[in-house]
Amino acid sequence: MKMMLIDIFVIGLALIFIRFWWRYWSVTGGGPKNLPPGPPGLPLVGNLIQVILQRRHFIFIIRELRKKYGPIFTMQMGQRTMVIVTDSKLIHEALVQRGPDFASRPPDSPIRLLFSVGKCAINSAEYGPLWRTLRKNFVTELITPTRVKQCSWIRKWAIENHMKRIKREAFENGFLEVMSNCRLTVCSILICLCFGAKISEERIKTIESILKDVMMITSPQLPDFLPVLTPLFRRQMKEAKALRKKQLECLVPLIKNRRAFVEKGENPNQEMVSPIGAAYVDSLFGLEPPTRGPLGDEEYVTLCSEAISAGTDTSATTVEWAMLHLVMNQEIQEKLYQEIIDCVGKDGEIKEEDVEKMPYLEAIVKETFRRHPPGHFLLSHAATKDTELAGYTIPAGVYVEIYTAWITEDPDIWSDPSEFRPERFLHGDGVGVDVTGTRAVKMLPFGAGRRICPAWNLGILHINLLIAKMVQAFKWLPVPDAPPDPAETYAFTVVMKNPLRAVILPRV
Ligand code: HEM
Repeated sequence: MKMMLIDIFVIGLALIFIRFWWRYWSVTGGGPKNLPPGPPGLPLVGNLIQVILQRRHFIFIIRELRKKYGPIFTMQMGQRTMVIVTDSKLIHEALVQRGPDFASRPPDSPIRLLFSVGKCAINSAEYGPLWRTLRKNFVTELITPTRVKQCSWIRKWAIENHMKRIKREAFENGFLEVMSNCRLTVCSILICLCFGAKISEERIKTIESILKDVMMITSPQLPDFLPVLTPLFRRQMKEAKALRKKQLECLVPLIKNRRAFVEKGENPNQEMVSPIGAAYVDSLFGLEPPTRGPLGDEEYVTLCSEAISAGTDTSATTVEWAMLHLVMNQEIQEKLYQEIIDCVGKDGEIKEEDVEKMPYLEAIVKETFRRHPPGHFLLSHAATKDTELAGYTIPAGVYVEIYTAWITEDPDIWSDPSEFRPERFLHGDGVGVDVTGTRAVKMLPFGAGRRICPAWNLGILHINLLIAKMVQAFKWLPVPDAPPDPAETYAFTVVMKNPLRAVILPRV
C-alpha cells in the first residue's frame, strides 16, 4: 500500500513536470526572452511540424498567420528562431532608420556554406569589412552608369538572339513560352557581363541549369531547422558536393580563359569579347578583401554565380507577369505599343536611353513589381547585436524575415490592391512612390537600406528592354482555348504555376 502511494506521488509529480515543460516549450515568443509572440508549437520542434503538415510553401502560410499575429511575430522552426516583420513602418524603421542594426545575415547551413565558400558572397556575408569590400567592388565594377553604357552591346546582342529565338519557337509550335526564353536571355547577358565571353547557347543553357539546381539545393531543408538530423541527410550533402564540383568544372575553364586573356592577351577561340577590365571577374582577380586575403577560383565561381543567379529569375519572373497582363488586357498592351512607336517609330531601334523616356512602360513595370513581387520575403536579415523592435527583444543571430508581399496587398496603403492598374503610377496612389523604400515603404521589390539590391537599376533596364522590344515587334495574344492561368507557385521567386504561353503576330 505504501509503495503504491509513493508510485502515485511520483507519477503525479512527473505529470505536473511534463505539463509545465510542455507549456514552457510550446509557447512561441513572449516569456522572459521578450520575443514577439507567435503561434504555439510543440516541444523541441516548435512550429516546424505544423508548417510541414500544411504541404504548402512557407510564403503562403505566412500570408494567413499575418492576419492573426499582425505586424511582428515569432515562428519557432525547430532550433531556428524566426521573427517575421510584416508592417511597413516597422520595416522602414528596421531597414532604413536603423539600417546598420539589422544589416547582417544569420548563420548559414553547411550546404549553403559549401556554395558560398564560407560566406564569401555579397548576399550572405555578415555586415562587416568583407561584405563592404565585395559590395563596393560589385557596384563600382559592374553597375556604374559608365560600365552599363560600355556594356550595352551585350544586351543588344542577347536581345537580338532572343527575338530570333521567340519568332522561331512561335513558328514551330504556334505559341511560345515566355519565362524560359527570358531566363535564357537575361542569363546570357549576365554571363557575358561576368566573364566577358560570348559562348554558345548550349553552354549558356548548361550554366543556367546548374545555377538553378544550386538555388534549389541551397533552399532551406529539414536539417537546417533540426541540425540533430544532419547525419540522416548525408545523401543531400553528397549531392551538394557533386553539384558544387559540376559548377566548378563548368565555370573554372571560363575563368582560366579570361585570366589568360587579361594577363597574356591569349584568346584562342575568340571567346573573350569584352575589353580587359570590363568583365566583373577581371576586378576580382586582384581583390584582397580584409579578413579573407586574395581570392581564388572557388571564390570567383561563387561571386560570379551569385550575380548571374540573383539577376536571372528575378528579372525573368517580372517580365513573365507583366506579359501576362499585356496578353490578358489588350488595352494596356495597345497603350504601351502607342507609347513605343511615338518614341522610336514602328521599326526604329529601341536604345537603352529610349526606355527611360517611356512613362507608361515604367508604370507597367512598377505595377508588376507591386502586384507580383518576385520574392515575397527579402533575403534573411539578422541584427548585428541584441536589439529591440516594436518593444520586443531581437537577439543577434535570429532570422529576421521581412515579409514584403503584404505591404502591396494592404488596402490601407493601396486602393483596390488586387487590381492590375498601371495608371495608378501616373495619376493615383502610386505617384511618387519610391521603389527603393528610402523615404517610406509602400513597396520594396529590391529591399531597402544597407542591403538593398545593388543592381536594381540594371534589373529594371533588362526588364524594360525585353518588354519594349517584344511589344514593338509583335502583338501578344492568349493561346486559343488555353487562356493563361494566373495561379502562383514558389520556385526561388514566385512564378506562374503554369508558365505563360502566348501567340505572337508580327505588327504590320
Ligand atoms: C528585377 C530584378 C531584381 C530584383 C527584384 C532583385 C531583388 C533583390 C532583393 C529583394 C534582394 C535582397 C535585399 C535584402 O536582403 O534586403 C537582392 C539582393 C541582391 N541582389 Fe538583386 N534583384 C534584382 C536584380 C539583380 C541583378 C541583375 C543582380 C546582379 C547583377 C542582383 C544582385 C544582387 C545582390 C548581389 C544582392 C545581395 C545584396 C547584399 O546582400 O548586400 N540583383 N536583390
